[in-house]
Amino acid sequence: MIRWFNHPKDELLRDLALPAVGASCTPEAAQNLALVVALRGLGAVSPNPLVGAVLLDSSNRFMAAGAHERVGGPHAEANILAELTKSLGEKGLQARLKGARIFVTLEPCAHEGLTPSCAKALSGTGLKEVMYGVTDPNPLVRGKGAEILRDAGIKAVDASSHSDFKPWSLACEDLAGVFLHNISTGRLFTALKIASSMDGVVAFEGDRRFWITGERARAYGHFLRMTYDAIGVGAGTVLADHPRLNVRHPFLTSPLMTRTPRRIVFDPQGRALEFSLGSNVMPLLNEAPETTVWLVAQHRKASDLIHRGEARGIKVVPVPVEPDSGRFLWSEVDGALQTLGIRSVLLEGGAGLYNVALGNSDMRTRPEVNKIHLFQSPQILGDRSPAGAKALRWNTGTSMQQFIRQDRVQLFQLEGDWGFEIPMDAG
Ligand SMILES: NC(=O)c1ccc[n+]([C@@H]2O[C@H](COP(=O)([O-])OP(=O)(O)OC[C@H]3O[C@@H](n4cnc5c(N)ncnc54)[C@H](OP(=O)(O)O)[C@@H]3O)[C@@H](O)[C@H]2O)c1
Repeated sequence: MIRWFNHPKDELLRDLALPAVGASCTPEAAQNLALVVALRGLGAVSPNPLVGAVLLDSSNRFMAAGAHERVGGPHAEANILAELTKSLGEKGLQARLKGARIFVTLEPCAHEGLTPSCAKALSGTGLKEVMYGVTDPNPLVRGKGAEILRDAGIKAVDASSHSDFKPWSLACEDLAGVFLHNISTGRLFTALKIASSMDGVVAFEGDRRFWITGERARAYGHFLRMTYDAIGVGAGTVLADHPRLNVRHPFLTSPLMTRTPRRIVFDPQGRALEFSLGSNVMPLLNEAPETTVWLVAQHRKASDLIHRGEARGIKVVPVPVEPDSGRFLWSEVDGALQTLGIRSVLLEGGAGLYNVALGNSDMRTRPEVNKIHLFQSPQILGDRSPAGAKALRWNTGTSMQQFIRQDRVQLFQLEGDWGFEIPMDAG
C-alpha cells in the first residue's frame, strides 16, 4: 500500500500503478492513491493546487482516478467524469455511479472560474458520497462546495473532522501546502533546501564542486525543484559554482524534465551579475536566460544592470534593502516575485542566504520560512578545513524550535543520507 508520509515522493510517482478497473480497492488505498495521482500535475498547475481523486463503486471496486494536470485545464473530478462519460455515455454513467464514492484531496470547487464548478458537476451524477481531504480556504469555495453537494443529497465528508481520516487529511494539507498558504495569507511560500554534514557544515571557502550528500539525495533535490515555482541562490553560490539550476532527475520524464522553474539570484551589489555579464561561462545567462531573475539593490548602478541584463535576455529587478545590513527587505522580495507570478520559492543556498533565513538577522530581512528540506550526510566535515568551513548558524535568540510543526516532520532515507521535511508555522 502507498504511504505518503516518510517516503520520498519521487519514488511514489515513479511506482504509481493504477488498479485495474473493477479490482477491489479499500477506501484507505483509494485515499492514498488520490495523493500520488495528484503529482501528475507537478510543475504545471501553479497558482492552483495539486489535486487528485479516486472513484470507487458501491462495492469498493476501482472505477477511475484523475488529477488536475495543468493550470486552466479540467479539475481532478472533471477529468474522471469526462473519462467515464466517454466510455459509458451519460446514461451509463448515471447507472454506474449509483452508490459510488469519490475521494478527492481538496474540497470540490463551488465557483465557475476557468472551468465549471466541480461540486455542481458531481451533484447530478447519483453519487452517494464525496470525501475530501482539506477544505478549500478560497472564500469563493470554503464550505460552499460541500453545501452544494449536500443540497443535492450527496454525503459530503470533511476528512479533517474525523479522527480515523485525520492522517489522510494531514497528507492532503501537505500536498496542497503552497496553495493553502498563498490563499490564507496572501504571501509567498518559502522553503529552504539544505545539504549539511552532521556538524552543520554546508560549504568550504573556495572549495568548488564539493558534494556533501550522495547522488540519491541530489536527485531528490532535483525533484523538489519541480515542486516550486522558483529556485533562489545567493551571489556567492553563483560565483563559486556557476550553477545551472535546472531539473535533472533519473525518475522524471518529459514533459516534466523540460520545464525549468524560474531561477532567482540574490545579488544586492550586482557583483555576481557584473562577473556573469563579463564572462561566457555562466549557465544562468547562457541556458534559458528568460527564466532567470536577478535581484539587485535599488542603487545607482541598477538601471545600467537592468539594461545590460535585459540585452542578455534575463530579468533584472531592483529591490529595496535594509540600509545597515544591505540585505533585501523580505516583504519587498515577496512583492517582486509575486508580481512575476511566482507563488513559491525554494532557497537552495548558500551559507549566506541560509544564515539570513535561519540566523539572528533583522526580522525585516529574514524570509518567512514555511518549510525546510534538510539533507543530512553522516559525516563530520568541520575537521577537514576548520578555518574555511561554513556552517549553519541557527537562531538561538528567538528559538526557531517553536515554529517547527513537530507532528508533521517527515524523515526518509536516501541511500546513505537522511532527508527531513520540516514544516514551519509562520514566525
Ligand atoms: N550545502 C548546501 O546545500 C549548499 C547549497 C548551495 C551552495 N552551497 C555552497 O555555499 C557556498 C557559497 O556560500 P556563500 O556564503 O557565498 O553564500 P550565498 O548565499 O551563496 O551568497 C551570499 C551572498 O548572497 C547575497 N545574499 C544572500 N542572501 C541575501 C539576502 N537575503 N539579501 C541580500 N543579499 C543576499 C549577499 O551578497 P553581497 O555580499 O554581495 O551583499 C551575500 O553575501 C558555495 O561554496 C556553494 O557551493 C552549499
